[in-house]
Amino acid sequence: MANTPPQLSLQTTQKNSPTPLPQAPSSLTPPVTPIAKESNQEKTTPNLSQNKKLSQSQFASKENVSTLHFADDLEICRTDDNRPFEFGRGVWSIVYKARYTPSTTNLNPSTPPSSPTTQPQLLAVKAPLRRDANPVLKAEAATLTRLSRLPGHENHLVPFHGYHTELGALIMTAVPTSLATYIEAQAEQARIHRTTATMFDPVQGPASFRDLARKLITGLNWLHEVAGVVHGDIKPHNILLRPIETEGEEQTHAFEYEPLFADFSATVEIQTDVDKPLDTTRASMSSFTPPFTAPEMLASLMCSEMAPTAASDVFSLAATLLAAATGDLLLYSNMNHRLRLEMARAGHQIVDFARSGGSGCRVPRNGFVERLVQPAVVKDPTERISTAKWVELVSV
Ligand SMILES: Nc1ncnc2c1ncn2[C@@H]1O[C@H](COP(=O)(O)OP(=O)(O)O)[C@@H](O)[C@H]1O
Ligand SMILES: [Mg+2]
Repeated sequence: MANTPPQLSLQTTQKNSPTPLPQAPSSLTPPVTPIAKESNQEKTTPNLSQNKKLSQSQFASKENVSTLHFADDLEICRTDDNRPFEFGRGVWSIVYKARYTPSTTNLNPSTPPSSPTTQPQLLAVKAPLRRDANPVLKAEAATLTRLSRLPGHENHLVPFHGYHTELGALIMTAVPTSLATYIEAQAEQARIHRTTATMFDPVQGPASFRDLARKLITGLNWLHEVAGVVHGDIKPHNILLRPIETEGEEQTHAFEYEPLFADFSATVEIQTDVDKPLDTTRASMSSFTPPFTAPEMLASLMCSEMAPTAASDVFSLAATLLAAATGDLLLYSNMNHRLRLEMARAGHQIVDFARSGGSGCRVPRNGFVERLVQPAVVKDPTERISTAKWVELVSV
């Protein structure tokens, strides 16, 4: 596939002064995710469906959906010192804050935002950070196009507005808070207001944690069972939190955000046709972040590579929940990098490792967190809990 260099400039609302964006620096800011080696090896069909065979027709609308495009003008927001405002960075991209005023004569009915007003809206522009990110972002746009047409997407996915051809960028609604920033803020609050009364609880409090877990597990079940995809890179940085509007009504949500899955750069489709060759475009280039990556995936970096599976997603979400409960984003923060990698390779012991860390008291033996996480991190991926059963477990 041809790699055209990203053209980092935009049409802006001030037509005669295009806003050039700076060339992206080659070094990444944390969290830095190591990138798997690229491989041309034949891939084996992954064990994508854990406990049941998916019917051929279940995900019938996968093919022939042309990617949604975003062709309107937008304006990149700038900081006080006139630099483009960044929401964040990942392995592939820089995500900029942008402003967009929907026109009343928008002829493309499928282009959100659908608000009848012409109030400026805040957008996130996910632009490529490296030349080899172009095909990855294009594939992500195709995935988001398909997923955004499925019933229920609005509860689980970052709102997607289309692919900006000129920039090679994805255009999304701005959702500035990620689960990673939330966990850090909660951990900080817990440090400030330390009390013995709550030291055995998840940092955000038990009711809020349970609500977050229920929403996330329900979302993952939707991804696997309705959308028919494996996310492939679940971690707190790739989950965005949209505040729940509770204007005037009584606060009824223990966790006051809707967690939305973002970053579909490592996503693979769940294979229903075993004869069809597996699309490993992104799997072969995907990123891995210990300790959120399932141990079998880390092991695969050492030998032949494998695509992420539904079971590896389950592991990653379990690790994410453990990070939320302990308030420790790195899970084994007081270890050096080499030791952390060693521990991530023995990921089935993740609950014990977390318990021996500084916030281990927040994962009491046989408490809610352990009972929820343990069946999702068992060593043999085929033995891990399915998302359907996990939804039941989190709901009791
Ligand atoms: N819609 C959005 N609104 C606000 N911030 C976002 C949005 N999407 C992503 N981000 C921020 O940008 C970071 C990188 O985006 P991500 O999609 O994860 O890129 P990558 O594939 O390069 O990891 C995220 O961790 C998050 O902090
Ligand atoms: Mg990311």
